[in-house]
Amino acid sequence: MKILRTLLLLLASAPALALPLPGESPHQSIGVVNCASSMCHGAVAPWKESNILHNEYSTWLRLDKHAGAYQLLFNDDSKRIAKKLGLAKPAHEEKICLDCHAHNPAHEKRGGRFSITDGVSCEGCHGPAEKWVESHTEPDATHARNVQEGLYPTDQPVAMAKLCVSCHFGNENKLVTHRIMGAGHPRLSFDLDTFANFQPPHYKIDADWKERKGSYDGVRLWAIGQGVAVQSLLTTLAHPTRGRDGLFPELVLFDCHACHHPMSAQRWQPRLGIGPGKIRLNDANLLMLRNIVKALYPAYAPGFTAQAQRLHQTIAGEADWQQQDALKEAKKLTAMVEQQLRLFEKRRFTNNDLKAILNELVAEGIADSYSDYAGAEQAYMAIAGVASHLQKAGGFSVERARQINAVLGSMRTALASDEKYQPAAFKAELLKLRQLTGTPAANTPAARPAVKPS
Ligand code: HEC
Ligand code: HEC
Ligand code: HEC
Ligand code: HEC
Repeated sequence: MKILRTLLLLLASAPALALPLPGESPHQSIGVVNCASSMCHGAVAPWKESNILHNEYSTWLRLDKHAGAYQLLFNDDSKRIAKKLGLAKPAHEEKICLDCHAHNPAHEKRGGRFSITDGVSCEGCHGPAEKWVESHTEPDATHARNVQEGLYPTDQPVAMAKLCVSCHFGNENKLVTHRIMGAGHPRLSFDLDTFANFQPPHYKIDADWKERKGSYDGVRLWAIGQGVAVQSLLTTLAHPTRGRDGLFPELVLFDCHACHHPMSAQRWQPRLGIGPGKIRLNDANLLMLRNIVKALYPAYAPGFTAQAQRLHQTIAGEADWQQQDALKEAKKLTAMVEQQLRLFEKRRFTNNDLKAILNELVAEGIADSYSDYAGAEQAYMAIAGVASHLQKAGGFSVERARQINAVLGSMRTALASDEKYQPAAFKAELLKLRQLTGTPAANTPAARPAVKPS
């Protein structure tokens, strides 16, 4: 009995990682051409009497940047990056680029009509269709059966987060390394809820979607995205080869602006329990996660904060901490995040939860935690996202939403240039925001704020 129980517990706690991402799936990819017929997903306009829109292909092809992700590997920027890196082949033939700029399964997993030129294709997100392309349109098809046959469960928040994060943040298997950044690749900034909203919609979360697939909650998705990004950061850091580059750790995991700022700008502040002149892990996602934990699971917050601080201190080799302990501390923190993900998955985020999170996000900045640009940028996307969901749920009056939008606009201005970022200006806006969000008023919707900093 006891063994059985332990086994069940083990099964229950097996990380969802076991699910292969579309690029690593054992099934064959058959190519976008198989989805594009006007009776399938290539309709010109959405159908009215159907669960799905049927014009997914048209939306993707015309509006979605994923469709052009491969083509951009031919542009001058890509050529320059490839040249500076000294790649043997042009960017559009190099695995290190194709793994994120296309659906790039192994050659033996490609069907006759598969084409790499389709970029981040339907199968790049929904999984190779070999086994389900026929059956998913049969009258008795169910979502569960499709998933069993290799459809990637994009409707499951953790699975979706792992998918998007694998390209938009990277993981131990594919990464925009500091070398690639140094060759000119743009810095990646990502927030799952924001980006899910930014992707030109080819699906509609309506009553039948919920009936077939369960609940959809933008704030939960955001929270889960934060946890998955932290896990990716930590597993990459702990990876024996990916985590370093020569004598150095992989620098892309650290705060870019800890190194990339003029020496005359003496901006060191005590934070994270590490001294001046140290490079800091990029803790933007960790900070967001800490705010969620503080707001929703206050009893766990001190332990989580302490563990994050221990990691920062071991990496920096602070007084009582040895560098070689860093990997151990990273693993402990990863386990904590795994637990949090399970809590988030099950939670129904209420308006009170959203208010509590928003208050923490603002308070964290007023306590000077957003002194690094990457943290401030994450906080901005988080605040704009949570405030917008709260407002849609009737948390703010139209007038209040207008005032909040104005402050969000000024926050974007403060973030306009990463190199000229002034933490004090950003904090001044947070102080204004505290006045406005501290006392949410009644009902009625207004437009979602434009969320992405340029
Ligand atoms: C870990 C995934 C990943 C890898 C590896 C990667 N990229 Fe990217 N790349 C991205 C993402 C995601 C974006 C879009 C960033 C955004 O808009 O938020 C991007 C953007 C770009 C852009 C700018 C596009 C634009 O619209 O201005 C260029 C150019 C580029 N990548 C070239 C390359 C080249 C060349 C390589 C190989 C040396 C490469 N990338 C490797 C994920 C990756
Ligand atoms: C960048 C990732 C991505 C790409 C590329 C992508 N999708 Fe999706 N798709 C999603 C997500 C996320 C959802 C929403 C979650 C869900 O319903 O599973 C979704 C949902 C759908 C749905 C389900 C709608 C419903 O009501 O159940 C269909 C059908 C669909 N996509 C078809 C396509 C087709 C066809 C293509 C290619 C032309 C495509 N998708 C490309 C991510 C993607
Ligand atoms: C296989 C890699 C890959 C996956 C998986 C992926 N993306 Fe992307 N995504 C990219 C690349 C590469 C670009 C940049 C394309 C360009 O700039 O033309 C991009 C661009 C975008 C953009 C446009 C950004 C901008 O600056 O305009 C959004 C939004 C986006 N992705 C959202 C998502 C979401 C949401 C998911 C998960 C459902 C996802 N992506 C999954 C590779 C990927
Ligand atoms: C530990 C310090 C450190 C960190 C952290 C760091 N870099 Fe760098 N970066 C360097 C050094 C050193 C160089 C090489 C400078 C040179 O060649 O003059 C460099 C070069 C670059 C270059 C090329 C600049 C040029 O003059 O050609 C870019 C772009 C870049 N880094 C981006 C980033 C980004 C983006 C991040 C964060 C994701 C980051 N760096 C994090 C130290 C760092």
